[in-house]
Amino acid sequence: MSNLKDVASLAGISVTTASRVLNNRGYIGEETRNKVYDAMKQLNYQPNEIARSLFRQHTNIIGVIVPSVSNPFFGKLTELIEIYAVEKGFKILLCNSFHEKEKEIEYIQMLKSNKVDGIIIGSRTTDLGKYMDIGLPFVSIDRILSENTPCVSSDNYQGGELATQFLIKKGCKNLVFIGGSPNLNLMANKRNEAFTDVCEKAGIKHMTVTTGENQFSAMDYTECIDHLFCNNPQCDGIFASSDIIAAQVIQVAAKNGRKVPRDVKIVGYDDVIISELTLPKITTVRQPIDQISRYAVNIIADEIKGEIVPRRTVLPVSLIVRDST
Ligand code: RIB
Repeated sequence: MSNLKDVASLAGISVTTASRVLNNRGYIGEETRNKVYDAMKQLNYQPNEIARSLFRQHTNIIGVIVPSVSNPFFGKLTELIEIYAVEKGFKILLCNSFHEKEKEIEYIQMLKSNKVDGIIIGSRTTDLGKYMDIGLPFVSIDRILSENTPCVSSDNYQGGELATQFLIKKGCKNLVFIGGSPNLNLMANKRNEAFTDVCEKAGIKHMTVTTGENQFSAMDYTECIDHLFCNNPQCDGIFASSDIIAAQVIQVAAKNGRKVPRDVKIVGYDDVIISELTLPKITTVRQPIDQISRYAVNIIADEIKGEIVPRRTVLPVSLIVRDST
């Protein structure tokens, strides 16, 4: 088996220079670099990981596709993904899909041509199956992309149970869940499943209000909340599937003369900064955004190295009790 010395001697340069080429250190002229690559090819030299990545043109860049960083959950998630990626020697290339199918597809193709080493995707509006068949490792967050694509999420069913059980414990008799469209195959749908199961079991009157994708992108839910207060004045407890929704429930409740938590109690979801900025502060289900990001980066880094990685990672959530209940 040939070694670096053989490569250096065939290329007609010193071992130190050959090693600098392999480790991409210091200034190396194009001609010298090519001589080393030719010698490596001729000798079928099995290089170390760094040299191998040079051959494969690894960029040490991870593509990250999220709906929008203006959503505080995805803003925090992206920031943490970047921090953990940098710790592992990667940079990130960030794409906001605005939940548009064409953008998701375009970005996957763009990331491929920019030779990223892998893609973390937290946005999915469509079946991306055939577009993901591009020989790159993928990790999804909160969305199932395919049977074999690793997915990291928090335990959405547990979150739904915690929120609903707490509202019932606080005396609510007429509950409403407000969340995204069940048509998207999102893990977050499990929050509503748990809500329904817990209410049914406890014999509590319940109703689900689903919001559209446009509302998710615009982060404006006031109209449907207004509608809810008009049509269901008996509602005394609301489980909102994000803190953004919960914050708007507080606003609309005030506008309708309903006091929180006296007349209506509210539990949000995510535990992002906004939950502590409202009056009253929002009781919410905390998603472990830090852990989700760290796992996603570790999994993609391991996949890039060709290691076997877990297909499903589900992390526990917790209830953070504040003043809206
Ligand atoms: O606020 C954004 C929400 O959409 C989060 O709860 C997250 O889980 C995502 O699916």
